[in-house]
Amino acid sequence: MMAGRGRLVPCACLGLLGLLCWVWVSFASSPDELPLEQRAAFQPQSALALMEFSSIGPYRGPGNRDLRSNKELPILLWWSGGLFPHFPGDSERIDCATSSCLVTSNRKVQLYKRTASIIFYGTDFRAYEAPLPRLRHQTWALFHEESPMNNYFLSHGPGIRLFNYTATFRRESDYPLTLQWLPSLAYLLEPAAVSLGEKNRLRREGLGPVLYMQSHCDVPSDRNRYVQELMKYIQVDSYGKCLNNKPLPARLEDTSTATGEEDIFMKFVARYKFHLALENGLCPDYMTEKLWRPLHQGCVPVYRGSPAVSDWMPSARSVVLIDDFPSPKALADFLKRLDEDDEEYAKYLEFKAPGRTTNARLVAALESREWGVNDMSKPNYLNGFECYVCDRENARAAAERAHRKAPKKNPPPRPATANNSHMGCPLPRPGYGHAHELPADDGWLAVWPQDYWQSLDQAEGLQSLIRHNQSDPALLWKHIQNLAVGRARGQR
Ligand SMILES: *[C@@H]1O[C@H](CO)[C@@H](O)[C@H](O)[C@H]1NC(C)=O
Ligand SMILES: *[C@@H]1O[C@H](CO)[C@@H](O)[C@H](O)[C@H]1NC(C)=O
Ligand SMILES: *[C@@H]1O[C@H](CO)[C@@H](O)[C@H](O)[C@H]1NC(C)=O
Repeated sequence: MMAGRGRLVPCACLGLLGLLCWVWVSFASSPDELPLEQRAAFQPQSALALMEFSSIGPYRGPGNRDLRSNKELPILLWWSGGLFPHFPGDSERIDCATSSCLVTSNRKVQLYKRTASIIFYGTDFRAYEAPLPRLRHQTWALFHEESPMNNYFLSHGPGIRLFNYTATFRRESDYPLTLQWLPSLAYLLEPAAVSLGEKNRLRREGLGPVLYMQSHCDVPSDRNRYVQELMKYIQVDSYGKCLNNKPLPARLEDTSTATGEEDIFMKFVARYKFHLALENGLCPDYMTEKLWRPLHQGCVPVYRGSPAVSDWMPSARSVVLIDDFPSPKALADFLKRLDEDDEEYAKYLEFKAPGRTTNARLVAALESREWGVNDMSKPNYLNGFECYVCDRENARAAAERAHRKAPKKNPPPRPATANNSHMGCPLPRPGYGHAHELPADDGWLAVWPQDYWQSLDQAEGLQSLIRHNQSDPALLWKHIQNLAVGRARGQR
């Protein structure tokens, strides 16, 4: 969430692609507030933090020759309560790269002919609150930058296929947010905050080689189970609520500040050679500050999260991947060897030297993305996706008109449907060992696999509601039950 009091307000600008841009106007700043450049560089622009935004009315993208009045524009409806990236009021005209739309959070327009698309925030999407009946001419757009654990509904084929356009952390989504936690290449290349000599000195004073700082313990990736095992073989200094074995210094005690990028916190964690960096949910391309912060500070991440993480690393050797090791003990042995071998350890930080960041995919993705991370000169990705949907809808409407006029000459527009490559996160598995080895009363076992499969039921239930052209989403439970009965009778 955005720290501090203040408000993002529009400024006239030559925004890329004619999107929107913002300046931060600070008011009533408290003295402990950090200057903007120090504030949470790796906090993504969490969508819910953008509620106070206002957009710039009359600005028009260079490719936008849309002169229609508001009354003629297609409508995009933001369905998720509380998420509407405009201020004030509940409706706004947006002028995007190539076309314009009216956006609103007023659900009265749900069944309007002019309402072309409904936009959902993934974390808040609930099958039993879906806008029904689903009209043939309306598309659904999904914005989901948060962890897969927030809504496994979207990780099942029948769930994700309900959507026509997506913005998720996966590179395959229509408007990818993959590097949302990485502000820039410069952030990554910053020189190491603590020298290796100093780290070795601290080691001799008793500082552990490995840091763990986690206060969100019950998560689908089940990271604690792995770390607990690892701790048997190597010293891990653990300061958070999970597996705590060290008190946080008093000045850092407030854990809400201990996740930010305050100087004092950054200095504290930068002293460690290795940071355990385990995401709360495992999914291709889901990477957070847990990974980018140690790289920024010059600590080596010991990572489990996106199985495709190597695709985005600055060099071939900058991160230690937990899943490369057959056991926690094997990983511990490897870390101990690195801890004692300065030359080998230093190789993990070589990507910071000029010209040594060799990953063309990473560099290109950072250069080509149109949105910024805490970069007020660039549009934020929430408004960016809204404009993506607007331009797609206007293009679709134009193609449909052309088709009606001259069907032989102009084919109808091809339907766009999302699929599992836009999200598709796997069934949660234990962080260490196998599910069948866990005791029946294991807390993780009781929650996450069940949550995953129940959300598949809900996705199939909603598909059924739509097939039957139902208008009451509360009938979801009845449809789920009917599906179960049908399955029991061997009908499907
Ligand atoms: C939107 O997705 C739905 C569900 O997959 C599909 O039936 C429909 O044809 C799609 N609409 C467009 C315009 O692509
Ligand atoms: C799934 O979506 C991706 C990206 O939109 C597309 O390239 C791919 O062809 C789709 N796969 C299937 C099986 O439809
Ligand atoms: C679906 O239901 C709506 C309202 O309940 C109705 O107006 C519409 O004609 C129905 N569509 C179909 C294809 O039956």
